[in-house]
Amino acid sequence: MKLTYHGHSVVKIETNRKTIFIDPFITGNGATDLNADDVKVDVILLTHGHSDHVGDTIPLALRNNALVVAPFELATYLSWQGVNAHPMHIGGAHQFEFGKVKLTQAFHGSSYIDENKQIIYTGMPCGILFYAEGKTIYHAGDTALFSDMKLIGERNEIDVAFLPIGDNFTMGPEDAALAADWLRAKTVVPIHYNTFPVIEQNPHQFVSLLKEGVGKVLQPGESMEL
Ligand code: NI
Ligand code: MN
Repeated sequence: MKLTYHGHSVVKIETNRKTIFIDPFITGNGATDLNADDVKVDVILLTHGHSDHVGDTIPLALRNNALVVAPFELATYLSWQGVNAHPMHIGGAHQFEFGKVKLTQAFHGSSYIDENKQIIYTGMPCGILFYAEGKTIYHAGDTALFSDMKLIGERNEIDVAFLPIGDNFTMGPEDAALAADWLRAKTVVPIHYNTFPVIEQNPHQFVSLLKEGVGKVLQPGESMEL
């Protein structure tokens, strides 16, 4: 399995001969190394409806004929745009051919704001547990620290956790460091920082708060093999 960070909360997973993107916010993402027109994708996993997470999902899914897995309300909205969407919800898992997906809770908001300044409710925000090749990946989405991360850590042997550290909208570095302890992930990669001035953080300082060898800063475009 190959994991690549593409800035903000964009994570690419290559496994079982499939290319999976979590939260493909590319157009307008000053922190990404990607160009949306060049992206090839088989599956898109979404944590919540905010534009810095849904991003280029609709054009990417339509052009690549990709499956989109999302919380029920968001999946329903996307299906109305012609997207092939698989709805799930918090606590539910499903075995797909490319791997198993389970949605977790996240403490945040979830809505889609359209051209007419209408706020469309897109259900509860989620985190994603992804299982394939005997490995477990946790992408926390946008969330505050919550103590049930201990439960997620107890019930899963997490190989890599992607945790937001930007503060303001999500956990900041101190809360994310406690989350890392509770999740007991072997490797923790910081996400959701330095995309906008309000979420500027030093990821290396965050890594210094973690147990030795746990934190790993990935530059946009940088990969790790599991
Ligand atoms: Ni958000
Ligand atoms: Mn966000």
